[in-house]
Amino acid sequence: MPDVLVTRRMVDAAMSALTGLGEVDVYEGPPTAIPRAELLTRVAGVRGLLALLTERVDAELLDAAGPSLRIVANHAVGVDNIDIAECTRRGVLVTNTPDVLTEATADLAWALILACVRRIAEGDRFLRTATPWIWDPRMMLGHDLYGRVIGIVGCGRIGQATARRALGFGMRVVYHNSRPLPPEVAGPLGATWRSFDDLIAESDVVSVHCPLTPSTRHLFDAAAFARMKPTAVLVNTARGPVVDELALAKALRAGEIFAAGLDVFEREPEVEAELLDLDAVTMVPHLGSATVGTREAMGLRAVQNLAAGLAGARPRDLLNPEVLG
Ligand code: GLV
Ligand code: GLV
Repeated sequence: MPDVLVTRRMVDAAMSALTGLGEVDVYEGPPTAIPRAELLTRVAGVRGLLALLTERVDAELLDAAGPSLRIVANHAVGVDNIDIAECTRRGVLVTNTPDVLTEATADLAWALILACVRRIAEGDRFLRTATPWIWDPRMMLGHDLYGRVIGIVGCGRIGQATARRALGFGMRVVYHNSRPLPPEVAGPLGATWRSFDDLIAESDVVSVHCPLTPSTRHLFDAAAFARMKPTAVLVNTARGPVVDELALAKALRAGEIFAAGLDVFEREPEVEAELLDLDAVTMVPHLGSATVGTREAMGLRAVQNLAAGLAGARPRDLLNPEVLG
């Protein structure tokens, strides 16, 4: 009986770090995530589960694992795939991988912002069609960033790192959080709190960094797009369901906003068909943390958390300290 289940192979350094944690069972996907039935079978009796954001960790899975389960170490900073309250009730520790992916994810947000305002993916596609062209004063015009406003929705670690980069582009920063940032954090960013409605009306770039919760699901709906500037771009590197993709496609077709950059999708890995033929949408397959260095750091952090939990110690990134009393 394995001690640990890893739901998909991680990078080599992280796999090597599993040595010494007992018998480790590794699901060898992709292209698919571990099928649910197989996950429920293979999790039975393990002490540690190293899960990815594609695995739903809920009461059903915890029942299947049984009372031996001590820790669920998520290989992600977002934990919307995990029912933390249910884990806590059963005395199961839950950890994530914060900090190590902050800068890489902020970089990707900026890659999408620039791709959207300067029509990079559209220009690349255009050249590959071999359509005749000549430099033209009116060709493929985008929008300026200098002197404009970026609105950060969810100004935690990643949101702040994204805001910091905005200063280099000469942008002004506004943000929306449930609670305003302390002055020592907001001050250096020159960041001003706004209500959500005011932020989306004022911003030329809106970048989403909030977690997915019941109150952020479809935060960007038809009403939100109607409030945004027709020249605005929306970038989502957080979680897909924060954006209503059908409403987004309609808003883009109607010219209610200029462009959107998406790293995450409402029914990931499926991409809404309505978005596919829109040149104003730039999409990448959930690559926010996808650099060699960051994926190594994430994998190692997840394994360190797992190891601590299995050893009866307090994992560094423990999300439900109540379990330890
Ligand atoms: C990736 O999306 C993560 O939450 O780490
Ligand atoms: C993620 O960890 C964030 O704080 O943005």
